[in-house]
Amino acid sequence: MSNLVELTAAFRRQYDRSPWFIARAPGRVNLIGEHTDYNEGFVFPAAITYDVAIAVAPRTDRRVYLASRQFRQDTWFSLNSIRKAVHRPWSNYIRGVAHILQETGHRLCGMDAVITGDVPVSSGLSSSAALEVASCLAFEAASGFRLDPVERAKLCQRAEVEFVGVKCGIMDQFISVLGRADHALFLDTRSLEYEPVPLPFSGLELVITHTNKPRGLAGSKYNERRSECEEAVAVLQQEIPGVQSLRDVTLEDLRRFRSKLSPLSYKRAHHVVSENERVLRSVQALKAGDIEHFGRLMYESHESLRDNYEVSCLELDTLVRVARSVPGVYGSRMTGAGFGGCTVSLVASDQVETFQRIVARRYLREARRRARFYVCQAAEGASIIRP
Ligand code: GLA
Repeated sequence: MSNLVELTAAFRRQYDRSPWFIARAPGRVNLIGEHTDYNEGFVFPAAITYDVAIAVAPRTDRRVYLASRQFRQDTWFSLNSIRKAVHRPWSNYIRGVAHILQETGHRLCGMDAVITGDVPVSSGLSSSAALEVASCLAFEAASGFRLDPVERAKLCQRAEVEFVGVKCGIMDQFISVLGRADHALFLDTRSLEYEPVPLPFSGLELVITHTNKPRGLAGSKYNERRSECEEAVAVLQQEIPGVQSLRDVTLEDLRRFRSKLSPLSYKRAHHVVSENERVLRSVQALKAGDIEHFGRLMYESHESLRDNYEVSCLELDTLVRVARSVPGVYGSRMTGAGFGGCTVSLVASDQVETFQRIVARRYLREARRRARFYVCQAAEGASIIRP
């Protein structure tokens, strides 16, 4: 959780007045269901106890002033002409949300804002979705309207796709808006129906481990994977009537039409189709209290992302391999888009310290980087706080 007392004090120093409210939105960890959301599949994320918080006071003009505590940078833009910023890229998530809100007919007023956050940036824990969702809430509260939560998530996703240019799915924004404390959310990204599933994790912790590897190519590789899935769909549509997306394809279909697909398309499609099945099975396992089964599915998911979807990297693979050898670890996998970022592991509470000690030592030796750990709980979605 961001330090709201510090944030309020920073706001007063910056603008010489008090904030009217604070909009906050959490990051997320995806337990399973990776690279399935833009294929209309299933995901199973939880919001986490790390967030982005924006202290806000409305203005009477059409200007939006932004000061980022994390980046130690300021910028501003006019709501009358919103352009992408080259030198303050973090502000594009906020500009993008304002742009889409206006495009969808919402009348916005200007604001003074100070932004802080403790979701590690570029880590696969959705600091950008948290920033979008917090900004959306900020514009809503400052301008005096309130969106339906699912609409808010959709709009923030559009900001990222249309303004920032990463063709992401709906998962990150959705969980940041609709997360529930002590629950993960089983989400059907086609119908947007969702079900909060209690995390019966007594005696267990979710441990996020950061590779500390910068995610250089993440954006372009992400869009490339998306096109590869579209290519596979185009081929399968010729063979199977009614296929709209990889959501409509089974493993049996893939085996039958394997020869029609290029080896690369087959691998990509195999990951997505099998990952959808794993999500369904893991939700069942969790409901039945079968943590061992859940953990095995996490490992399988990682292997599929590594071998078939090819979005893992040496650092993520090392973390998962090392975690697997530690007693009291039920499952571990990369989480988020990949190419760096974090893993998520399910660890027995009394083994968390041993886990951190062994993983840190072996990761340093084998990957020559320092791991960072975040032990976290499933948190509530975005909200407005009035100081
Ligand atoms: C990023 C995207 C999500 C999702 C994941 C991969 O976090 O923003 O929409 O596609 O990657 O599962």
